[in-house]
Amino acid sequence: MSVVVLISGSGSNLQAIIDGMQSGQLPIQISAVISNKADVKGLERAANASIPTHVINHKEFSSREAFDRELMATIDQHKPQLVVLAGFMRILTEEFTNHYLGRMINIHPSLLPKYQGLHTHQRAIDAGDSHHGASVHFVTAELDGGPVIVQAKVAIDDQETADTLAAKVLKFEHQIFPQTVQWFAEHRLTMEGNQALLDGKPL
Ligand code: GRF
Repeated sequence: MSVVVLISGSGSNLQAIIDGMQSGQLPIQISAVISNKADVKGLERAANASIPTHVINHKEFSSREAFDRELMATIDQHKPQLVVLAGFMRILTEEFTNHYLGRMINIHPSLLPKYQGLHTHQRAIDAGDSHHGASVHFVTAELDGGPVIVQAKVAIDDQETADTLAAKVLKFEHQIFPQTVQWFAEHRLTMEGNQALLDGKPL
């Protein structure tokens, strides 16, 4: 199955998916990695795995619509069955999200629906939460609002900082994201209405 991965930074989640592909665990081919930023570590990771890369700098476009159209045209050249947002830090237009509805997934570092948007780790600590985590979800027009597929939950310790919590959560991200890609590649994961289904059963 052809997959295109979008990144903006370090790409450790991309790496987890590359590792799964290279070990044969994931029946996928990453056809391209696209970043909206040049010189990020994720692009190096892709190049090291001989995956074609594109940089599309959002600052070079006069509007969000124009950027998203270029992004869409570039993604579609590779004819992916699945688009993976792995730390892609841009808000997407409805035209874009509708085009990939049911075939685009994102990972978000919170137990959604809690803490959509940024600074999720600090917000969970400030709220005095006992637990935090990460969610993989199908992408819809609502930011971090599409149907949740899988979540990982971690305890927040007494001395926790945003950095220590982010590191703890990231380890689990590297498990649940490849797992989701595997389900999708095995045709076990679908979206119907606002619900994610695994083997036809609501998650
Ligand atoms: C992850 O925490 C992800 O949940 C968030 O951005 C971070 C990306 O990390 N959306 P990486 O680039 O995969 O290392």
